[in-house]
Amino acid sequence: MADMFAERASDWDSRPVPMQISEGVVRAIRSAVRLSPDRIVLDFGAGTGLVGGRLAASVGHVHAVDVSAAMLAQLEAKEELRGRITTHCQDIVHAPLPLTVDLIVSAMAMHHVADTAALMRAFYEHLRPGGEVALADLDAEDGTFHPPGMEGVFHAGFDRDALGGLLTEAGFVDVRFETACDVQKEGKVWPVFLVTAHKPG
Ligand SMILES: C[S@@+](CC[C@H](N)C(=O)[O-])C[C@H]1O[C@@H](n2cnc3c(N)ncnc32)[C@H](O)[C@@H]1O
Repeated sequence: MADMFAERASDWDSRPVPMQISEGVVRAIRSAVRLSPDRIVLDFGAGTGLVGGRLAASVGHVHAVDVSAAMLAQLEAKEELRGRITTHCQDIVHAPLPLTVDLIVSAMAMHHVADTAALMRAFYEHLRPGGEVALADLDAEDGTFHPPGMEGVFHAGFDRDALGGLLTEAGFVDVRFETACDVQKEGKVWPVFLVTAHKPG
């Protein structure tokens, strides 16, 4: 599979939009879920670590999952994260990791996965009983957030009710949505949701 983020990896952390979103999402995660040294976290679509990296000092360990070797190489180069984050360059929908975690977080990665139902099932399988997800992405939009024809974008955001239904079908309970932040881009405002849900304990 081609690395769709190879060209964007080296300057990802200096781009205003990912910075705005990741700061807003981390703030929302911190107030919505418990972070503590006894909790192991999986960051799905972790990229350069803008979300997982900011959470790493508050939890036991972060597993950063991504299919872009270039994005993960940027994360691995961050000295301050050494020993706190393990990277996995793997598509966990088709090749699950041999581990389970307490919390799965994600920012702006779910719209890059075609089969959202299968992704929700994969999240469920990677959680310990009682574990939870805190997932952020664009609310349903008109398809103009990304440039026209951009490869690897399968969803123009997500309808909250539809995504909540897929989480419930996968087995999750206590599904709750909030707005994590509003992103400013090219004169428009794009709401980003955070959905939290639990795997029954
Ligand atoms: C828009 S970036 C967001 C990166 C990071 N979460 C952030 O907030 O800066 C989307 C990331 O999802 C990753 N991605 C796309 N498809 C994926 C898949 N099937 N499994 C894991 N990661 C994926 C991309 O490689 C990319 O690093």
